[in-house]
Amino acid sequence: MKKVYSILLLLVFWVGIISVPAQKNVGKTSTKDAQIEAKVNALLAKMTLAEKLGQLQQLDGDWGTGEARPEQLELARKGLLGSTLNVRGFKGANDLQKAAMESRLKIPVLLGFDVIHGYRTQFPVPLGESASWDLEAIERAAHIAAKEAKSTGLHWTFAPMVDIARDPRWGRVVEGAGEDTFLGSKIAFARVRGFQGDDMSADDRVMACAKHFVGYGAAEGGRDYNTTDMSEQRLRDIYLPPFKAAVDAGVGSFMTSFNSLNGVPSTANPFLWKTLVEKEWKSNALVVTDYNATKELVNHAIAADEAEAAMKTLNAGVDLEMVSKAINQNGEKLLKEGKITMATIDDAVRSVLRAKFRVGAFDFKPIDEAKQKASILTDENRKAAREIAGKSMVLLKNDNNTLPISKSVKSLAVIGFLANDKRNMLGNWTADAKPEDAVTLMEGLKNKLGSSVKLNYAMGCELKCTDTKGFDEAVKAAKNSDFVIITAGEDADWSAEAASRSDISLPAGQTELIKAIHSTGKPYAVVLMNGRPLTINWEAENSPAILETWFSGTEAGNAIADVLFGDVNPSGKLPITFPRSGGQIPLYYNALPTGRPFAEKDKYTSKYLDIPNTPLFPFGYGLSYTTFKLSNMQLSQTRIGKNGTITVSVDLENTGKRDGAEVVQVYIRDMDASMSRPVKELKGFQKVFLKAGEKRKIEIPIKVSDLGFYNAQMQYVVEEGQFRVMVGTDSQNIKDEMSEFFTVVK
Ligand code: NOJ
Repeated sequence: MKKVYSILLLLVFWVGIISVPAQKNVGKTSTKDAQIEAKVNALLAKMTLAEKLGQLQQLDGDWGTGEARPEQLELARKGLLGSTLNVRGFKGANDLQKAAMESRLKIPVLLGFDVIHGYRTQFPVPLGESASWDLEAIERAAHIAAKEAKSTGLHWTFAPMVDIARDPRWGRVVEGAGEDTFLGSKIAFARVRGFQGDDMSADDRVMACAKHFVGYGAAEGGRDYNTTDMSEQRLRDIYLPPFKAAVDAGVGSFMTSFNSLNGVPSTANPFLWKTLVEKEWKSNALVVTDYNATKELVNHAIAADEAEAAMKTLNAGVDLEMVSKAINQNGEKLLKEGKITMATIDDAVRSVLRAKFRVGAFDFKPIDEAKQKASILTDENRKAAREIAGKSMVLLKNDNNTLPISKSVKSLAVIGFLANDKRNMLGNWTADAKPEDAVTLMEGLKNKLGSSVKLNYAMGCELKCTDTKGFDEAVKAAKNSDFVIITAGEDADWSAEAASRSDISLPAGQTELIKAIHSTGKPYAVVLMNGRPLTINWEAENSPAILETWFSGTEAGNAIADVLFGDVNPSGKLPITFPRSGGQIPLYYNALPTGRPFAEKDKYTSKYLDIPNTPLFPFGYGLSYTTFKLSNMQLSQTRIGKNGTITVSVDLENTGKRDGAEVVQVYIRDMDASMSRPVKELKGFQKVFLKAGEKRKIEIPIKVSDLGFYNAQMQYVVEEGQFRVMVGTDSQNIKDEMSEFFTVVK
């Protein structure tokens, strides 16, 4: 019997070998894909080893001018440069592609750039934009960014960042969609669609890049580039789905992450690239390393030198090396030593060429300067930026309808450095945006109010706010005005790459300034500008109104003025938890239960001695100038099969006096599973606009197949048994009557 099994196994193994093509050619392919594959193979057959290794190299052009460096032009002329980052624009793109057209095989250079939340027209930073919970708006913003970028000769953006981030100390929370896997996956899909559309070679589309694969957002201590260590279950349940959503949207590329995951750096991790991306997801997307990440394998101490680093990168299934030159310079030697194979090199080259065909790089037409200028920062794009910025703002507090401000005020004090600053409005990663394009809050207020309202501006202090010299002037401005707007927050560079903070409070001086304004007794609103959750306990307790505006982009000032004066009713919802203290981190709504949940009177339960377990502001939270009421929750059935879809219906009523939008959120809890499951998980939502007084029945379908998880055997399972469904307008305040149960049956 054993022998029969061995023969069978051998046969399966053998059939496996001969039926798996050498190249990454996976999944279903269309005729277009097949044509591209044929062209790729024909070209590959003509290439020398040096030309192949050239294709696996991405070099860093001059960020400031957008031009390739002289040595890069030379490489391109010889057909020895695959790709660049930062080369763009009329001169940069044209010169480099012309050089490539002089090469033997005339293979164009693939031009990539970080177009993260806009090219020239900036939209809110991605975390802020995610607070809109408006997938159509998010897709539109990416589409506009793609269109502007494409007009400058770019083929490829290194976005979206789809890393789940549960640690706001990590500065790059600003670049993603926040803490939730379901919301993050929907947004990943929308962003990839926005960048790529159906055809990434179109004039208004670029290739997207799902980054950073994977676990980058789970760095220990929230410190950028630091180690990530987690169970495979957590990886699969929480961190992978947004990447899979990007694949489902057809993403053309991936980027490795700087971190090691469970001891193996992503750039040298075959489990990630070969097992997950290639085999499980059947993706043949191009895989680029992050900046110098191959060379850094030596720092990770998993490669003795750059040659070994190159070997591990290629053998892991990574294709293109960003900036460091380990593959290019050691490829030939590694091949001779038998440490890499020609099939591996060819496979990587195919990925690069395939991407070039997909983005239409071979059909290069010189960039027309006038056309380029006419395509960027158009009135239409600015209008979209203003609209989307308005949708992304989150009203955190509004005692006694402090906001909106009445348009009949005669004078307004505007306090704070950020109220009068252009650069910070754009946020971090601003591609080719120019600070002078940005509208400050002061300008936005002037645009809205004209000369009818006297604006009394006082800075108060700089962002770090280390002295109180300007406080008196600020207090005086407040006393002389009917209403005070005070801005507070971060410098855009504090929420960014390499910008982790151990303490995520406002600089103490900023809170002191707010206290000084508070003590004048004037009505006031705090306008926050920041790229991460902040621990703003004093403000949350004492300030009458707080509006979270993130860094909302080119049209920031106009959009904030729209919301402050009620022309736009805020409808944003937090995509990430705001903790009370850095000591609570990580704090996220979809945590696993504990055997000893907090109980007031029982010492031996899970808690802190000094602060509550609860967040300052929970995931999904955000107020409006109107009020909404949920009622009449119903489930389409109470027993359902594993392939079924259950519909949750609820009546939503706008019970206030203004039109507005609310996000109805559906959370699920698996009540009894073979593994401990989160206390709740978002599984559906709908953003609904209702006129004042309007009531509407909302139906949100939930696929039972989405309710599964990876079990101890790493199989995705939907288990039979009872589930609880909860409907709310944030993740915490869910009323008893908004909770029902259903049972999943075979
Ligand atoms: C490093 C960052 O981690 C990555 O996100 C970015 O795309 C590259 N640098 C290129 O700028």
